[in-house]
Amino acid sequence: MSDENQVELEARLEEQEVFEPSEEFVAQANVSDPDIYEEFEENWPQSWERAAEMIDWDESYDEVLDDSNPPFYKWFTGGKLNASYNCVDRHVENGDKNRVAIKWEGEHGETRTYTYQDLYREVNEFAAALRAQGVEEDDVVTLYMPMVPELPIAMLACARIGAPHSVVFAGFSAEALATRMNSADSRCLVTCDGYYRRGDALDHLDKANEGLDGVDHGVDSVVVVDRLGEDGFDHELRGNQHDWDDLMAEHAGERVEPVERDAEDMLFLMYTSGTTGQPKGVKHTTGGYLSYATWTSHAVLDIEKEDTYWCSADIGWITGHSYIVYGPLALGTTTVMYEGTPDFPNRDRLWDIIEKYAVDIFYTAPTAIRAFMKWGSRFPEQHDLSSLRLLGTVGEPINPRAWKWYYKHIGNEECPVVDTWWQTETGGMMVTTLPGVCDMKPGSAGPPLPGIDAQIVDTSGTEVDAGRAGYLTVNKPWPGMLRTLYKNDERFVQEYWQEYSDVNSDDSDDWVYFPEDGAKVDDDGYITVLGRVDDVINVSGHRLGTMEIESAIVGVEGVAEAAVVGANHELKGEAVYAYVITEDGAEGGEELRGRIIEGVEDAIGPIARPEEVVFTPELPKTRSGKIMRRLLEDVANGEELGNTSTLRNPEIVDTIARQVEQQRN
Ligand code: PRX
Repeated sequence: MSDENQVELEARLEEQEVFEPSEEFVAQANVSDPDIYEEFEENWPQSWERAAEMIDWDESYDEVLDDSNPPFYKWFTGGKLNASYNCVDRHVENGDKNRVAIKWEGEHGETRTYTYQDLYREVNEFAAALRAQGVEEDDVVTLYMPMVPELPIAMLACARIGAPHSVVFAGFSAEALATRMNSADSRCLVTCDGYYRRGDALDHLDKANEGLDGVDHGVDSVVVVDRLGEDGFDHELRGNQHDWDDLMAEHAGERVEPVERDAEDMLFLMYTSGTTGQPKGVKHTTGGYLSYATWTSHAVLDIEKEDTYWCSADIGWITGHSYIVYGPLALGTTTVMYEGTPDFPNRDRLWDIIEKYAVDIFYTAPTAIRAFMKWGSRFPEQHDLSSLRLLGTVGEPINPRAWKWYYKHIGNEECPVVDTWWQTETGGMMVTTLPGVCDMKPGSAGPPLPGIDAQIVDTSGTEVDAGRAGYLTVNKPWPGMLRTLYKNDERFVQEYWQEYSDVNSDDSDDWVYFPEDGAKVDDDGYITVLGRVDDVINVSGHRLGTMEIESAIVGVEGVAEAAVVGANHELKGEAVYAYVITEDGAEGGEELRGRIIEGVEDAIGPIARPEEVVFTPELPKTRSGKIMRRLLEDVANGEELGNTSTLRNPEIVDTIARQVEQQRN
């Protein structure tokens, strides 16, 4: 991290205000004993049994942690269980069959309610349908679906038969779908005809079909949910494509015994962006992941089965996996799902849903909170939000002003706010306050959770003093951690462990996980996460690799070279800035700009759409030819330029800065 960067980051963290949870909240909290931190530490790793005990095992595990071959850790070894049984059957068996499991609201206001008994029936029938389609244990099933109830049903059906799912966010492009299906060698796809966005019906099957055309191997079976009914797009289903409802009717009333899975068997794959152009297939397992998602839902989100809980994320991302589906359903609570956007038909839509369902716990992203703040407090004020007990945020740093707005205008200064730091790879929350134990400091996520050993270090791996910016590291394994990158152990070690570990050691104490985030810690041990330190940018809480976007841009005819950086953005947190050199060095015009944007949308999806495309005759490069991204970030942020003396072509930076200035005016 550069000196200027450090000074700037440190300035953001001057004197912090402290907020205490109310006595009323603490009195009812699932976890309220501060000794929990010590208990976890003293008895580590046995203390993790507390998480494992939250779920039902067909066969108990022999050992909590097998750390004999770091960083390939194994948790709850020898244990056998089924995730679908834990999220569905056990609640039916325990007298909660009539409790609502999923409350779904479509964008147009239609609702669907699934009790645990309904969920049990649907999951069983779809599990039978998948089997009949030839899906076997350990086959990867791709789910390319919007926020419809059939998505969690399909996930749980996969879990039931031991077929790992790979959910691809519906906003991703056809090409992104094909890349992920190819990488996972996935031969079965569950998708949807379309969905509603801001009132319009969107064609999804068209994109899915285009993606299927890009799959290199044979695809045996495609299941299509009919979401749009009469608003549909008149698609003819292809030979291997089946209508969801037809299959469900064929398998009506069938029951499928949950397959006994080993604790370390894969539950799902989730692709995420990294520093290279290829997305990484993060592998999560059944025992450790499910225990961890359930434990953190209990301890941090304070979920009880009587609650109505709402996480407004999309299930296409890890947040939705852990905290819409697996954690909440394992706890037997009511989880709310909403199909649409927060501003349709009006900017009070989310508050309307909270009032309508009397939501107790609400978990969302800072990017959404910044938008709510901009729209103004009059929208939440139109609704009775007094059912709320706890608020949460995830996905990116939250600035103290947005935190306080959320605390005041949504939580009425009565609900604790948990700012939860974690990643696709960690499976669940890692750094955040326990709401029944800790005070809150806006802008700072909080201490590492009990049992999590995190530190802030410098480049040499030495712990930095409180108040200094450094790199966040995790020194001990935890049950929810990724086990590897799918079929790529080498890249797993390289990406997450190499930086701070002694890679030749087989002593687990010598292995340190590096999440690639900058952070600092205060005197009370509260960690403030400052953002990514690799070439990954965080747009509206979504992780995008600059390399992926660059390779999409250089694939556009007429483009010779491109550099992509993230720049500050009021609502999105960061926005994509693309600096582009045309093939003949000529000025790029509107037409090329349009094709570049289209190229990025085609390769990745609209979330990666560049905010600005800046044409330049050259990129600032060091004498060894490396692009100086830091300078491009400064230019995009309109900041004073850092040191240009090491550049081969220092004059180009001013040219680019003028160009950006012009484009903005
Ligand atoms: O940079 C951190 C940021 O989001 C990254 C993880 O992104 P992803 O794997 O897509 O998962 C997002 C949802 C868990 C992290 O490396 N991040 C996530 N939560 C926070 C955060 N940054 C600051 N504060 C947070 N609470």
